[in-house]
Order: sequence, then structure tokens, then C-alpha cells
Amino acid sequence: MTDTIAVIGATRGSGLHAMRQLIDAGRPAIAVARNPDKGRDLFGSQAGVVYGDVTRPETLVEAVDPQWRAIVFTVDITGGIGGRGLFASREKVRAVMYGGLVNTVEACKQRGFTGRLVLLSTIGLTQPSTGMRILNRVKPGLRDHSLDKGEYLKASGLDYCIVRAGILNDKPGGAHELTLTDRDWPLEMRYRIGRADLARVLLACASHPAASRRELSVFWGEPGHDDDQQLATKLAALAS
Ligand SMILES: NC(=O)c1ccc[n+]([C@@H]2O[C@H](COP(=O)([O-])OP(=O)(O)OC[C@H]3O[C@@H](n4cnc5c(N)ncnc54)[C@H](OP(=O)(O)O)[C@@H]3O)[C@@H](O)[C@H]2O)c1
Repeated sequence: MTDTIAVIGATRGSGLHAMRQLIDAGRPAIAVARNPDKGRDLFGSQAGVVYGDVTRPETLVEAVDPQWRAIVFTVDITGGIGGRGLFASREKVRAVMYGGLVNTVEACKQRGFTGRLVLLSTIGLTQPSTGMRILNRVKPGLRDHSLDKGEYLKASGLDYCIVRAGILNDKPGGAHELTLTDRDWPLEMRYRIGRADLARVLLACASHPAASRRELSVFWGEPGHDDDQQLATKLAALAS
């Protein structure tokens, strides 16, 4: 197994932050992108870019390298209204959100991938909240698709970690302590996190032993900062 981390969903949002953090740390990184030109524009020669569209299983079988240490999966439906697939049909949302994860898992199995698959999900799937009711309307069926993708991954036999993030924003990272917990929380503004900080957690979960076969929630705590060691300590504490 190599040290390479692959990111699917690498060209935007949390996945893009994860790629930039890997590159800045001098770690080997591969972007799996449905638009490889966009990936090459973003990363130049600093990272590998391979073609993979999660709605096209054959492209993932081609893309997945069984030697990768981990795959970080941050795919969400994009395009359309707001650039975020708002009010797309339930089928379209499911094809990316759930079908994309299923296709990735199956490609991993077919290629004999033995690394860890880190799946970005959301808090609030099991906790009633107005936020989740609204989100489930604007991205039809999001709650079911997200629950189903988690269950599919857990039953896959692959090593996995499911990271349930609070409400996402694009504020700079490094200005808050991180709250990591086993339990689920309602989708409310007080449980929020920036994509930059979330990306750090996703990458930590790609390699920390305590993150293996685990689901956790993450959101900002008090103003402050957790360095890598403190983050690792918080992950290890979950296991105890
Ligand atoms: N929004 C929130 O408040 C919130 C809260 C908690 C958790 N989440 C979770 O966070 C995730 C989204 O994170 P984000 O907002 O940081 O990401 P994002 O900005 O929506 O980016 C999604 C990525 O998925 C890629 N993608 C879309 N369709 C694809 C396909 N068919 N094949 C391959 N790649 C594809 C996009 O590629 P292109 O660049 O080509 O479009 C993009 O790189 C979702 O799982 C969501 O449930 C969101």
C-alpha cells in the first residue's frame, strides 16, 4: 500500500480543501474528477488527476488504484439552481448522493482496494429538526439517500469512517476548537463547521486507527485551535 490519499469530490468545497491540505503537506494526492481539466487547472503538477464520474461505474473501476491508502468521498450533487442541485428530482439527487457511493464501493471491491473509505455525511439524519426538513425539501430525499449510503458502506466489508458534519460554511479554518462525538445532533446553526476545518478532520480520519469502522459527528466548539496532536487525541478518546 502507498501513502496516497485519493479524493472524490476534489474540485470543490470540502474535497478541494482536503486536496490543498495534502499538497501543502507534501503528501501524495490524487483527485478523482468528472472534469479532469478542472482538476488539472486547480492542481497543476502538484497532484495526480484521474477521470471518474460517480454516476458511471466503469469510470470508477478504471480510476481506483488498490494501492491507495484511503479514499475521501465528498461528492454532492452540483450544477442547477444555486450550483448545488437545489430542487433537482429525487432520482437525480439519489443517483449522485447514494448511487455514487454504491458505485465507488463496488469499484473498490472489484479492484481489491483494502484501504479506508472516508465518507462525508451530515449530522441530523436521526434527530428531528427544521433544518433537516428544509434540506430534505430543497434536495429531495437527502435524508434517506444519506442514511442509505452510510448503511451501504457499513455493510460493504471495506474499512470505513463516516464523518457527519454540522452545517458547512467557507470561513477560514483554524479559529475554533473541534467537537468530535459519537452521537448524532440536530441540524441547527449552533452545530456548524468550516469546510477547511472539516477537511482536516476527514484527512485525520483517513489514517487514524481509532477512526476505523466508526461514525462520528464533528462541528465547531469554542474559539481556539486544535493542532494535529490534539485532533488525534480527540479521535483516540472516541474509541475509549
Ligand atoms: N451543505 C451543508 O451544510 C452540509 C452539512 C453537512 C454535510 N454536508 C455534506 O457535505 C457534502 C458536500 O460537501 P461540499 O458542500 O463541501 O461539496 P460541494 O462543494 O458540493 O462539492 C461536491 C463535489 O462533488 C463533485 N461531483 C458532483 N457530481 C459528481 C459526479 N457525478 N462524479 C464525480 N464527482 C462529482 C463536484 O464536482 P464538480 O466540481 O465537477 O461539480 C464537487 O467536486 C455532502 O455529502 C453533504 O451531504 C453538507
